[in-house]
Amino acid sequence: MSQLEELIAVWLPRQRWFSGKGIPIQQIRVENFHTLASAGPDGPDLHLLVVRSGQRGRSSRYQVLLGSRAPRSLPPDLARAAIGVCPVSGKRQRVIYDAACDGDLTGMLLERFASPGGNGQVRFRTLPGERIRTGAAGRMLTGEQSNTSLVFGEDYVLKTFRRLWPGPNPDLELNCALSGSPYVARPCGWIEADLPGYAAPTTLAMLQTYIPGAMDGWVLATTNVWALLEGTGPERQSAFTEEAALLGRTTAEVHRSLAKALPTDVLSPTAVAELADAMVERLAMASAEVPELADYAHLVMEAYADFSQVDEPLPIQRIHGDYHLGQVIRTGAGGWVLLDFEGEPTVPVRERQRLSSPLRDVAGMLRSFDYAAGYLLVDHPSDPGLEWAARSWARHNREAFCRGYADGGGADPEKHLAVLRAFEFDKAVYEVLYEARNRPNWLRVPLESIATAVSVPPAAR
Ligand SMILES: Nc1ncnc2c1ncn2[C@@H]1O[C@H](COP(=O)(O)OP(=O)(O)O)[C@@H](O)[C@H]1O
Ligand SMILES: [Mg+2]
Repeated sequence: MSQLEELIAVWLPRQRWFSGKGIPIQQIRVENFHTLASAGPDGPDLHLLVVRSGQRGRSSRYQVLLGSRAPRSLPPDLARAAIGVCPVSGKRQRVIYDAACDGDLTGMLLERFASPGGNGQVRFRTLPGERIRTGAAGRMLTGEQSNTSLVFGEDYVLKTFRRLWPGPNPDLELNCALSGSPYVARPCGWIEADLPGYAAPTTLAMLQTYIPGAMDGWVLATTNVWALLEGTGPERQSAFTEEAALLGRTTAEVHRSLAKALPTDVLSPTAVAELADAMVERLAMASAEVPELADYAHLVMEAYADFSQVDEPLPIQRIHGDYHLGQVIRTGAGGWVLLDFEGEPTVPVRERQRLSSPLRDVAGMLRSFDYAAGYLLVDHPSDPGLEWAARSWARHNREAFCRGYADGGGADPEKHLAVLRAFEFDKAVYEVLYEARNRPNWLRVPLESIATAVSVPPAAR
């Protein structure tokens, strides 16, 4: 490995967005290195790298934005972003650091959109008629896990995709398909690059309009649950139920727009039975690892059997794919806006582009209502009264969301319970495995959802 690669090998595993945590990095290879901008002989210079990390025979690609400056010229407020000192692009010794932390460099990145076009294999693109306003420095959004988003004033968000899969990113693809919808943030441009060995360009970043003053759906929901548990919020609770219904309607509208703009199909009963088989397999694997789940496995199996016997063709289309309360924001005036159509970033893009039932997104959001209700009780001593209140919050909002979804023209969840229940269990089983491995004290949230759902026959829910 070069000196630069050695430094990246130490820095990469400490980044929140690095998805291979806990497994030693054996190799780092810089596959693409582009200098996007330079401010003079001492820098700062802005570099965009695609690096491939090798871990126990598994290899993944990541995007790294690096700054470089002459040694000892790093301003003190960037000391925490420093990665090390090494030769960079023909200059002998440079201090390299995380460019996302440097307002000068993020400003230079936005600047590049004002004169779109190529720089070798990296290209800046804008949508027709788009004139990018420059001059602002990018401020990193906190709280993100899998990517790095920079907010420019109140104008734009530049979402840089960290884990890279060859080809167009579904976030850009679906946002462009939905362009003009009041329920998404308007896409303005993107950055793409040619990766060695792939004909189609790979999306590196997406520039979208920023929606100022919006509230994150997860924060809104959990604040509402909190008020309820504190005994201060019965009237606020009903206010949130209206929000849940509006979110359901908005979700249905977005699904309909996606179905209009992009391919659709139907799954035959045989294909549905194959989906059910895959669910059974995932359940068996999770039950073998988490004994608490095994107690309910036979009841979940019954739901999968009901699903496999659905004898109507199941409509499929492009969907959100990773839908939950943290992926929606409530704007001051206009209602809900859906974000992050990337799907699950650790799953190869080709799989994420597969058509699926929109009820899978509905199931994702229903799981999220259970999480919002259960999460505040995770480290709380057992209290049947609070648990009942939390469950009833989840039930009311789940029902409101489903009602809104049907009112908005989506498939009525009440009429497709066998499908919805199977998707929901499948998601909850995934959560059980995730929590058992990563956050054992949260395990009770999906387990309690499964226990409650299997104990109530569908007709009585
Ligand atoms: N266009 C936007 N306007 C306002 N806030 C945004 C916008 N895009 C993203 N955000 C905020 O950033 C958070 C993370 O964005 P998201 O696209 O979901 O990234 P990630 O893939 O890392 O989850 C969102 O939950 C939201 O709070
Ligand atoms: Mg997100």
